[in-house]
Amino acid sequence: MSATVYDFQGLKLDNFERLKLRPVEGIPLIETTADTWDQVKTFQAKSDDLLIATYPRAGTTWMQEIVDMINNKGNIEKCIRGPMHDRFPFIEIVPLPPSPSGVKHAEQMQSPRIIKTHLPFQLIPKSFLEEKCKIIYVARNAKDNAVSYYHFHQMNRGLPEPGTWEEFLKKFQEGTLCWGSWYAHVQGWWDAKDHHNILYIFYEDIKESPRREIQRVMQFLNADLPDNILEKIYQHTSFEFMKKNPMTNYSTIPPPIFDHTISAFMRKGIVGGWKDSFSPSQNEAFDKDYMRKMAKSYLMFKWEL
Ligand code: A3P
Repeated sequence: MSATVYDFQGLKLDNFERLKLRPVEGIPLIETTADTWDQVKTFQAKSDDLLIATYPRAGTTWMQEIVDMINNKGNIEKCIRGPMHDRFPFIEIVPLPPSPSGVKHAEQMQSPRIIKTHLPFQLIPKSFLEEKCKIIYVARNAKDNAVSYYHFHQMNRGLPEPGTWEEFLKKFQEGTLCWGSWYAHVQGWWDAKDHHNILYIFYEDIKESPRREIQRVMQFLNADLPDNILEKIYQHTSFEFMKKNPMTNYSTIPPPIFDHTISAFMRKGIVGGWKDSFSPSQNEAFDKDYMRKMAKSYLMFKWEL
C-alpha cells in the first residue's frame, strides 16, 4: 500500500523524517538552524522591527495576531492576508525548500516587520538590541507550557520524538528540549527587560483580562485606538475565533509536518489544563525541582485562574 503523498508548495512530501537537535552555544536547536547559525547571528534588524519572543507554546501565535490586528487598526481583511508563517518571519527557522529561511524571509519583507523567535535572550541577533527594537516577550507557567509543548511535539515532525509524557517532562526539567531550558529562558528575558525595550507579558494575564493586556500592548506600540477597535481585536483574537481561522490555526501546514489529527495546533488554550496531565507524584516532584531552580527568581506565575 503506498502512503499518501502531499503536495506542499510544489514539494512532494511522503516520508518526512523528524529533525534532530544540535547545540548552539550550549542551547539545543534544530540542526538546520545550527547549520545556518552564522546567518541568524549576523541578521541585520531595522529600528522599526518588532520582535515577538517566547519559549515555544507560551502564546506566540496569540501575540502575533494581537499585534497584527493593532498594526492594522482592527482591519480583519488585512490580517487574513496570509497564514502566520507567511506574515511573520521566524528568524532562526529553516523550513523545507522552497520556503525561504527565516532570515531570507525577513530580508525580502517590507518594513515594518514583525519577527518571531523562540531564542533565549543571549542568542538573539545583537542588531535587535543595537537598533533598540521593540520586543514583546510572552511567558507562560511551566506546567501548562510543558504539557502544550508535549502535544506539539507529537503532532509536529519538525521536532524530535517526544517519547512518553514522563520522559518528556524529564527533558523539560533538564532543559534538553529544543530552545533549551524553560527556567533559564523566562528568567533570562526577565533580567533583560529593564535594560532594553522589552514588554514582558504573561499568558495567564491575557487569559484573565484580554482587553487590559491588549491595551498594554497598544500602549507599548504607541497605538491609540478607540474602544470599538479594541473590542474587534479582542473578539478576533479569542481562542474560539483563532481556532477556526485557517490563517491562525496552522491548518495550511500539511500532515507530514503538522498532523492535526494527533493534536490541534490550537489545542485547549486554557490556564490550569496541566492538572489533567501531571500525576500527583509528578506534580510534587516538579514543584520541588521548580522551587530549587527558581529560588532566586522574582518571577511569579499563575498556575490556575
Ligand atoms: P495549548 O496547547 O495549551 O492549547 P504558541 O503559539 O507559542 O505555539 O502557543 C500555542 C499555545 O497557545 C496553545 O496552547 C494554543 O492553544 C494557545 N493559544 C493560541 N492562541 C490562543 C488564544 N487566542 N487564546 C488562548 N490560547 C491560545
